[in-house]
Amino acid sequence: MTRIVVVGSINMDLVTQAPRFVGPGETILGERFLTVPGGKGANQAVAAARLGAEVALVGALGRDAFGDQLHAGLAAEHLDLTHVARFDDSASGTASITVAEGENQIIVVPAANSRVMPAQVDAARSLIERADAVLVQMEIPLETVETTVRLGQRLGVPVILNPAPAQQLPVDWLKLVRYVTPNQHELAILLGADPGEDFKALMQRAPCPVVLTRGGEGAWYREQGEPLHQAGFTVDVVDSTGAGDTFNAALAVFLHEGLPTAVRKACAAAALSVTKLGAQGGMPRLRELETFLADPART
Ligand code: RIB
Ligand code: NA
Repeated sequence: MTRIVVVGSINMDLVTQAPRFVGPGETILGERFLTVPGGKGANQAVAAARLGAEVALVGALGRDAFGDQLHAGLAAEHLDLTHVARFDDSASGTASITVAEGENQIIVVPAANSRVMPAQVDAARSLIERADAVLVQMEIPLETVETTVRLGQRLGVPVILNPAPAQQLPVDWLKLVRYVTPNQHELAILLGADPGEDFKALMQRAPCPVVLTRGGEGAWYREQGEPLHQAGFTVDVVDSTGAGDTFNAALAVFLHEGLPTAVRKACAAAALSVTKLGAQGGMPRLRELETFLADPART
């Protein structure tokens, strides 16, 4: 069984579905409100578990109502939560999300996620040592991201760094990463480049292999030489929140099948994830992904 360790955030997503986005000082009537589990770390962990991996999550929650709900939800997905800390004096992370016109706007308040410290990663060392891949994103302190990257490198375990939300990182950390998985905007910020610069040129300039997501247009990937393209899968988009997380999880789970196959499966899993509301709503199970890919009409 594939073993994955995820180091990252856990949020309660407060999702409002609306006919359109609001402007400053404006009030409109929305269509639907729901609280659903989210956070990039938790989402990637849940997606990997649904795809059949044995998953441990390193993260933090407050000891509040959201924290209890989130913890129970993650336990029900069969995640190892031994390294999820609970803080009495902190709220759990939240993300206020508006879904409109097939797009989203998100405000994240990290709260407990800002207290996921390097010592927590060190404490999970034996799990990381046995893992097939480690996934980490940037909704937790950057020193913890750095510790994760360095530990993975030292133990010879591939680390997939999903550089979201966008932030610039030191080149010497990036050199230790097996893959970075930005979108176009995140790649430019990550490398401190002009956002208008051609993404394929940026991919070639990056100090590590890049798997770049392009929404409905699929993904581009490069280890050496020219970037290669994997076309996206056409689906009806309900909510794209968590599509990137599903992509990252699938990439990690199927990495042992080789990069082109892993990227193709990641695109398919991400496509399925956007067909339902909520970050974790449409994340496919292995069987569903296989059925989807077996359809001869798929590219
Ligand atoms: O990547 C999607 C996630 O980003 C949401 O679930 C939200 O919690 C934010 O962290
Ligand atoms: Na979804």
